[in-house]
Parts: sequence; structure tokens; C-alpha cells
Amino acid sequence: MNILLTGGAGYIGSLACVRLIEAGERPVIYDNLSNSSAAVVDRIAALTGVRPELVEGDIRDRARLDELLKRSPFDAAIHFAGSKAVGESTRDPLLYYDNNVHGSRVLLSALHDAGVRSIVFSSSATVYGDPDTVPLDEQAPTRPANTYGRTKLVIENMLRDLAVAAPDWSVTLLRYFNPVGAHPSGQLGEDPQGPPNNLVPYIAQVAVGRRPHLTVFGDDYATPDGTGVRDYIHVMDLVDGHIAALRRRHGQPGVRTYNLGTGRGHSVMEVLQAFERAAGRSIAHVVAPRRPGDVARYWADPALAARDLDWRAVRSLDDMCRDAWRWQKDNPDGYAAAPDRIRTA
Ligand code: NAD
Ligand code: WQD
Repeated sequence: MNILLTGGAGYIGSLACVRLIEAGERPVIYDNLSNSSAAVVDRIAALTGVRPELVEGDIRDRARLDELLKRSPFDAAIHFAGSKAVGESTRDPLLYYDNNVHGSRVLLSALHDAGVRSIVFSSSATVYGDPDTVPLDEQAPTRPANTYGRTKLVIENMLRDLAVAAPDWSVTLLRYFNPVGAHPSGQLGEDPQGPPNNLVPYIAQVAVGRRPHLTVFGDDYATPDGTGVRDYIHVMDLVDGHIAALRRRHGQPGVRTYNLGTGRGHSVMEVLQAFERAAGRSIAHVVAPRRPGDVARYWADPALAARDLDWRAVRSLDDMCRDAWRWQKDNPDGYAAAPDRIRTA
């Protein structure tokens, strides 16, 4: 299949690109490089022996999308492109409604008019907000607690409405839990700009000496060790979930929503200790008050994806930390050494 990967130069998209090539598909990356580097294409080529086409463009640029869709017939799109920082979304909500909601609207119109009727969308467990009970299945109430999460829910609903109006659309909404880790080669991974917002990249930068210590946000939650509990999922398991979704859902009309998680939670301290094992060194931490907006704990019920997509996460927390560490130690400054690094403000 010819597959359009919006945001395909990013952390998850670049790894999905590798897996798609390995599965015999033909991905084309469409990315404005606002949070990524064109250097990933070299790395993908080195890993797979195939250089995917990278089209530099914005999902809000209808003319550019039309140009691409006119010259390349696509069977499906995987829509990764968007902004994803919770704190930034609170400070600059209009940016998030523009890039995520408006961007997705423009993309969907262009796909629809070009006759593409199959999409896999990167949603997030953040759409659930603070859960009443865990594990979370797909029927749990959606009440996102921040702007970023609300934009994801608006896009989900836009896709649901589209599929009602145009019943030949095949829409798969994948709600990711906490993706971490890297390609096992250490060649592709997460490259946050500025101080990482997320736990594992932060720990990795402390382990490699870029930052003095991890700040643990709260040790007084109602969890076994008092620190927050999340469902961390190896990013390679996550991208395998996309391949499974494409295989099972392509050509099947209607909307399906799936959690992509492992079904088990780990605390901040468990992750820290696993990373210490992976890196073979101790990692300094200090305990600070809770981060505003954080919830105590959540993890997925991934049974529906297992049943419908025949997909399960198989990699352990130790695998996640081992691969995150290999990426960090081999690329201490991420893709920064690449001459074409695009820096965002
Ligand atoms: P990322 O920032 O590494 O990748 C997103 C890519 O989209 C980047 O390459 C960026 O340059 C590109 N992009 C952004 N706006 C664009 C636009 N207007 N036009 C074209 N390209 C644009 O993020 P990621 O971690 O790979 O996340 C991918 C998707 O998964 C996002 O939609 C994100 O919201 C979602 N998601 C991520 C996580 C996570 O923890 N990483 C969890 C749940 C959901
Ligand atoms: C995990 C745990 C923190 C950093 C976010 C988004 C969510 C999704 C995934 C995109 C929490 C603790 C963290 C640190 C810490 N992204 N922590 N010190 O908040 O579960 O989810 O990323 O869709 O939408 O909200 O992930 O990695 O930030 O935090 O103690 O320096 O680690 O308090 O318990 P989170 P996270």
C-alpha cells in the first residue's frame, strides 16, 4: 500500500516508517519539520535499505497537500502530525486548535477530495482525563483535563462525524498510553527540544549527564510507593499496533477506537530503578510537589485491540529502558549534530 505519514519525521512516525518499509509497504513522509529533523530519513535508509520520500509541508497547507495527492495515489494515511506538549497547549491554546484541529480539518478535506478513505489517527489516553476506575477501556468517559487533550477529542469527533456523513471512510482511532523507548539499534528515538516534559527522556538526559537530577513530581499519591503510575508502552510495540490496525481495518468502513497500552502500570520510582539497571549507574533524583494537572494513576485495558487487531504489547519496562538508554548514550544531543536540524522556538 502507498501510505501517507503526516508527522512521519517525528518520534513515533519515523519508527512507524521503518516498520512499514519492513512490512513491504510504501510510506511517504509529509512533515513541516517543526519538531523533527530531516536527518531521520538517512537513519531510516541505513536501517531498512530504502529511502522514504520526505515531502516538507504543513498539514494546514491545502495547495501543498493537493499537489502531493495529485501526483501520488495513496491507499491510506496515518496521521501523526500535531503539537503534543500539555503545558504549551495551556499557554497557547489557539496554536493547538490551529495546528491540531484546523490542521486535521484541512488534511481530511484534502484526503476526502482525493478519494482517500482510510485513516489511522494518533489519539491519546489523555482524552480520558482523571479516571473513575482503572484499567481504562474504550467506553470510559472522555473528559480531557487540558487543551491538548481537548484538541485530540475534537479531532476524534470530527472523524466520527465524517464517517457518518461518508460511510465509506475507514477510521481507526488509536489512543496511545505512554510511549517510551527507541529503535533497538539506537539509531532512532525521541529528541525533545529544550528540557523534556516527559519522564523517560528526562531520566535519560540525567543518566547521560545533560541534567543534574530528576525531579519526582509528588510522592504522596494514593499509589503503592506514592509516586504517579502510568502505562508505559515500548514505542516499537506501539508502531506494531499501527501495522496491525492497517492490516485489519483497511477497507473496513466505520470507526473503531482502540487503546494501545500494555495493561499494567509502573510508578515513577519503578521506572527510575529500571533505567538505573539499564544504564548501570545510579541516577540522582529529588522529590518536589505534585505537577499541576497530573493524576495519580491510570493504565489501559488493551483487550479490544488484542481481540480485533490481534495485537499485544510484548516488550517489558526493562526493554523500554534499555533501548531508550542505547539511543541516548549513542546520540547524547539527539539529531543536533545533523546539519539540517531545524530548531523551533
Ligand atoms: P513528534 O513531535 O515527535 O512528531 C510529530 C511530527 O509532526 C513532528 O515531526 C512535527 O515536525 C510534525 N508536525 C507538527 N505539526 C505539523 C504540521 N502542521 N504539518 C506537518 N507536520 C507537522 O511527536 P510524537 O511523539 O511522534 O507524536 C506523534 C503523534 O502521536 C502526535 O499526534 C501526538 O499528539 C500523538 N501522541 C504522542 C504521545 C507521546 O507521548 N509521544 C502520546 C499520545 C499521542
Ligand atoms: C509520567 C509520570 C509525572 C516528568 C503525558 C501527556 C499525555 C501523553 C503522554 C501525549 C507522571 C512523572 C514526569 C518528570 C516526574 N502525551 N514525572 N518528573 O503526564 O502521564 O502523559 O505524556 O499524548 O497526553 O499528558 O507523562 O512522562 O510527563 O509523566 O515525576 O520530570 O512521571 O508526574 O507521574 P504523562 P509524563
